[in-house]
Amino acid sequence: MSFLQEAVTFIQEKVQDQPKIGLILGSGLGMLADEINNPVVISYDQIPHFPTSTVEGHAGQLVIGKLEEKIVIAMQGRFHLYEGHPLDAVTFPIRVMKALGVESLLVTNAAGGVNTSFEPGNLMLMQDHINMMYRNPLIGPNDAELGERFPDMSTAYDAELRQLAEKVAEQQGITLQKGVYAGVLGPSYETPAEIRMIRAVGGDAVGMSTVPEVIVARHAGIRVLGISCITNMAAGILPQPLSHAEVMETAERVKGDFIQLLHGILKAIG
Ligand code: 6GU
Repeated sequence: MSFLQEAVTFIQEKVQDQPKIGLILGSGLGMLADEINNPVVISYDQIPHFPTSTVEGHAGQLVIGKLEEKIVIAMQGRFHLYEGHPLDAVTFPIRVMKALGVESLLVTNAAGGVNTSFEPGNLMLMQDHINMMYRNPLIGPNDAELGERFPDMSTAYDAELRQLAEKVAEQQGITLQKGVYAGVLGPSYETPAEIRMIRAVGGDAVGMSTVPEVIVARHAGIRVLGISCITNMAAGILPQPLSHAEVMETAERVKGDFIQLLHGILKAIG
């Protein structure tokens, strides 16, 4: 049995229902998984071949159950390249989700604002991304059972899901910025010169996650919706230095709106 199949079989032995929607809960949003009804909770370190999280304060577990009458599988804690995980480890949970039956992925993250019209605390609908990690999780032999050798990325962020998210945000009176997410390796934040470069090439926000997961999700034919929390302005925009504390504080401040938006999206999704 393949590593993937071993992980999937392990989860299927614990879960009756087939999740159709995957959730990746970024910084500060982990508590949404606590709202899942009749949850099956599986710690990452129990699952065969699953990577284990190194970041402090992350739960590191899958939570499967009903949210807004939809069967979801949520990642409470994700894997970043800056932690030293190889790309195939970072994206392994997406392969697992696909094999379990997931058709749509809602991915969230914290990001720095590059577009100067953004403000800390804004939510941003990801219209597209720029892969500034300069590595790709699909490098290596392609398993045709999983997807194509050269997958199209011209519709990485699903137009229908974006429209739905905009409608829900409007109904809820939540401001939803739109923009392009530049994915970088980290863990150091960018220099002001790097932020000017990212702005010049079309980036509106910058963060250290999401791009690998989205590439693998698209390879697998999963529809993707991405929302960033602009936790701070990127380097060189404001006089003060960047701090992880500010990122966490803003994520905490905005999480009420963010979670309400995700509830609304889950309710409205087909
Ligand atoms: Cl400014 N940069 C990066 N790379 N990630 C971030 C960020 C900035 N703010 C939050 N996450």
